[in-house]
Amino acid sequence: MTRPDPGSPFRPDLLGGRVALVTGGGTGVGRGIATALARHGADVCLASRDREHLEPAAAEVRALGRVAVVHSMDVREPDAVEGTVTRTVDELGGLDILVNNAAGNFLVRAEELSEGGWKAVVEIVLDGTFRMCRAAYPALAAAGDASIVNITTTYVRTGAPGMAHSGAAKAGVFNLTRTLAAEWGPRGIRSNCVAPGLVEGTEGARRLVESRGMTDRYLEGVPTGRLTTVDDVARAVVFLASPGARQINGAELVVDGGAGVGGTFAPLLAGGEDG
Ligand code: COA
Repeated sequence: MTRPDPGSPFRPDLLGGRVALVTGGGTGVGRGIATALARHGADVCLASRDREHLEPAAAEVRALGRVAVVHSMDVREPDAVEGTVTRTVDELGGLDILVNNAAGNFLVRAEELSEGGWKAVVEIVLDGTFRMCRAAYPALAAAGDASIVNITTTYVRTGAPGMAHSGAAKAGVFNLTRTLAAEWGPRGIRSNCVAPGLVEGTEGARRLVESRGMTDRYLEGVPTGRLTTVDDVARAVVFLASPGARQINGAELVVDGGAGVGGTFAPLLAGGEDG
């Protein structure tokens, strides 16, 4: 039985006075993260390729009484990345929390993945994350108590058929996160990953799983019996960005209800217990 969502367990001023920048902040998980950060007191810059989604997302942040700025950009363009960070600092007065959520993927067999397809995804996910971190470094270091949260995926560990590009790129982000945790931790910048399982209601889940009738099959391997929600992911980000996580650096917080835990042994008790 799945229980109703109890709402945020965190106090509303947990991130008061903080400034956050969320890439891919116009839709889905990114939008949920931006809103959750605002709900806990942060002002937010939302950055995304899709201009049409940015204003509605910003309106949600403003409705919570926080300041929102929007920046239409592509993390594949170095100048755009620099410009986004500069604008955030200029308009919001600094930068304390960087959430690298922008991503791109499509299901394709490795042998059919074109040069351009591989490159597009790796450039968005891995190059884009590195670029954002590098551009944000001076502002984050100046903040003194800053946090980077990189959104990865559970298949960083397992691999996933059809996801050679995205899995390899996100695995690179995981490793980058660990290195930054070591290099920048002494400068007051913590770096962590949130690795969600399948997130219900997102464009990615619809396209990759729901539209292909695969949701029930996926759920068979999820001990909590439900998909991850946008709020589940957003709360993990709020926690990692908060002072409550001040000793958490270089970690990967998996938010998937225990999907796949038990591996091939998981069905052992399905037929009842011994004896
Ligand atoms: N299957 C196979 N190859 C694909 C593809 C698909 N569904 N979609 C894009 N590609 C390939 C293109 O063929 C091209 O490679 P080529 O130059 O070798 O032919 C390359 O990817 C770039 O394609 P393009 O259409 O220029 O995409 P883009 O650079 O504007 O964006 C993505 C790339 C990955 C972001 C795009 O596929 C996309 O918009 N995906 C859906 C949205 C998304 O991924 N959201 C993330 C949440 S999960």
